[in-house]
Amino acid sequence: MSRDDLQPRPLAQPWLGPPRSVPLADDHAVDLRGDALVGRRVALLVCGGIAAFKAPLTIRALRRQGAQVTVFASPQALRYVTTDALEWASLTPVVTTLSPQAEHLSGACPFDAYLVAPATYNTINKLAAGIADTVLTATLASAIGRMEQGRAAVLVAPTMHGSMHNAILTASLERLQSLGVRVIPPRDAYGKDNIPEESVLVAEVCAALPEAPFRSRQFVVVGGRDPVGQTVAEDLVRRGGRVLHVQLACALEPSPITQPLVVADGARARELVRAAPGPWDAVIDATGGSLGALATLHVATKDGDMFSADGSEVDMPALLAGIRESLT
Ligand SMILES: Cc1cc2nc3c(=O)[nH]c(=O)nc-3n(C[C@H](O)[C@H](O)[C@H](O)COP(=O)(O)O)c2cc1C
Repeated sequence: MSRDDLQPRPLAQPWLGPPRSVPLADDHAVDLRGDALVGRRVALLVCGGIAAFKAPLTIRALRRQGAQVTVFASPQALRYVTTDALEWASLTPVVTTLSPQAEHLSGACPFDAYLVAPATYNTINKLAAGIADTVLTATLASAIGRMEQGRAAVLVAPTMHGSMHNAILTASLERLQSLGVRVIPPRDAYGKDNIPEESVLVAEVCAALPEAPFRSRQFVVVGGRDPVGQTVAEDLVRRGGRVLHVQLACALEPSPITQPLVVADGARARELVRAAPGPWDAVIDATGGSLGALATLHVATKDGDMFSADGSEVDMPALLAGIRESLT
């Protein structure tokens, strides 16, 4: 590190280049972060909430787990996001009206999951009342039929100003949940039901798939001061597992997917694991041994055979596949 590196950075520093020397990626490409949705078809239904502007990010996050995404957008949604942006992100024409092709039925290539995000007050209440008078509600009528047959998951992410979250909405959400629709809890901030982070939406879709391998399984994962434990815990959630994630305090940003309990040290982690009611299908220690005999599975971390300190050299797909194998 030179003395220049230690200078304060002026905000208005001019930046003139240099031209890129690395090979250019395909403009539409995403880097695969996991395989939980490989071979899966996901319908993203975008309603006319202001959070519709985030839909292209949700699409790309779904694609990073391997999903093939088709977007359905209401006319109101297209006030807040353009068809061009949705099409660029999904690589597929956006369905904005129904045609003689009966797009709402997805007959020849059925969807594995339907994610309504953002889901408006209007569309949620119509869905719960069995109304099918728009491109979104007609598609969702068919989606619920597939869900009832165990062939698809349906998820809604309610997103609206807190004043709209009234008793009518609550009753509709209760009805939908009783039918088997997954209601994704909103991010609660500024008196609003905000759309959750994309990683959370994607994890919910993965976990809701009828074939998710760890549905009805429960795990404890204790993470150490590198990202390995967090990555393992998130992967188990995406496979449908219920995970108690305990994290030793460190610089890692807490995962919005697993919402870890952050503890000061291994002794406190042991106390929590002993107190946690269970039963657990596995207690996974990724701290390098803090849990001792409490753990049923030890994942080597930075001082072990496989891992570098920042996680960068971890062959994570192989590691995760190995862990999953050992749990099935
Ligand atoms: C600026 C603006 C933002 C809106 N944001 C939301 C919202 O976040 N959630 C919601 O339920 N409705 C919101 N609405 C109202 C919906 O757009 C309206 O109820 C519309 O009929 C929804 O149609 P759709 O469900 O077919 O997309 C908003 C309206 C405006 C003008």
